Amino acid sequence: MRHVPVLLKEVIEIFNPQPGQIYIDATVGEGGHAKEILKRISPGGVLVGLDWDPNVLEKLKSELLSPEGKVILLNTNYTAMEEMVEKQKLDNVDGILFDLGFGTHTLQDSGRGFSFQREEPLDMRYNPSATSITASDVLNRYSEKDLEKIFKEYGEERFSWRIARGVVTARGNRKIETTGQFVQIIKENVPARFLRQKLHPATRVFQALRIFVNQELSNLRITLPQALNILKPGGKIIVISFHSLEDRLVKIFFKEEKIKKELNIITPKPVTTSIEEIRGNPASSSAKLRAAIKIANN
Ligand SMILES: C[S@@+](CC[C@H](N)C(=O)[O-])C[C@H]1O[C@@H](n2cnc3c(N)ncnc32)[C@H](O)[C@@H]1O
Repeated sequence: MRHVPVLLKEVIEIFNPQPGQIYIDATVGEGGHAKEILKRISPGGVLVGLDWDPNVLEKLKSELLSPEGKVILLNTNYTAMEEMVEKQKLDNVDGILFDLGFGTHTLQDSGRGFSFQREEPLDMRYNPSATSITASDVLNRYSEKDLEKIFKEYGEERFSWRIARGVVTARGNRKIETTGQFVQIIKENVPARFLRQKLHPATRVFQALRIFVNQELSNLRITLPQALNILKPGGKIIVISFHSLEDRLVKIFFKEEKIKKELNIITPKPVTTSIEEIRGNPASSSAKLRAAIKIANN
């Protein structure tokens, strides 16, 4: 199954890419947004695609070869964006996109335990050679209190304390190493009536672990100011988030920079997906898009 880019029409309308322009797709993934941008900036434009997951980029390389526009694909955490721009000697960046969702490839083919529907080792690092700890390390080493906090804060999981206790009990018998083991623990610690609901009982806890392992909120917090530095006056930044904490972070950043007269907000309210888009791609239902434009300073 191919990844369906979320809010694609809206992204293209806001950026309105033109031949010769420079765009950075900070989370290029399977290139859904990038390909549409590339079509419009050729000839003469430059598209820089970043992704932390090396496997995702390998797949995209052959697909994104453009005879006219220049494409630079780099396997890096987007937190290195400013350094990357300097190295590539890019200035006058017209637009930067962050799509903080979840790539289909990551979910289905990574083999790193992102999906609760597959039996895989519990790794969950976007980049397995990054030094950060794995999801399995977190479950086996963190205190009950810390686990509860992670499940609650990043997953908004109502049974976080029960699941945290379940994890600590289970790991006393056997190390938790696979998605299957963890799903079983979750199911055993959620009241029976919640097991029959539409949302799988492991959804939120898996999300929480992924966000924690990859430090997703702090990555975004570090990089938004860099994106503002990199943009040319009149350049635009778009962030599509899927989690209330991410959206809040973006909202506050835009507001603060508006007060400092650095940014103007294009979307006073976040843009959300239409019923038609949700019908075709249910995973897009929680998407919120916020966009801002860099103010030209005198
Ligand atoms: C939802 S996908 C992007 C999909 C893409 N917009 C498309 O339409 O095909 C998000 C991507 O961001 C990558 N990613 C997550 N955190 C990252 C980070 N800190 N730096 C760079 N890439 C990251 C993931 O590996 C994943 O491929």
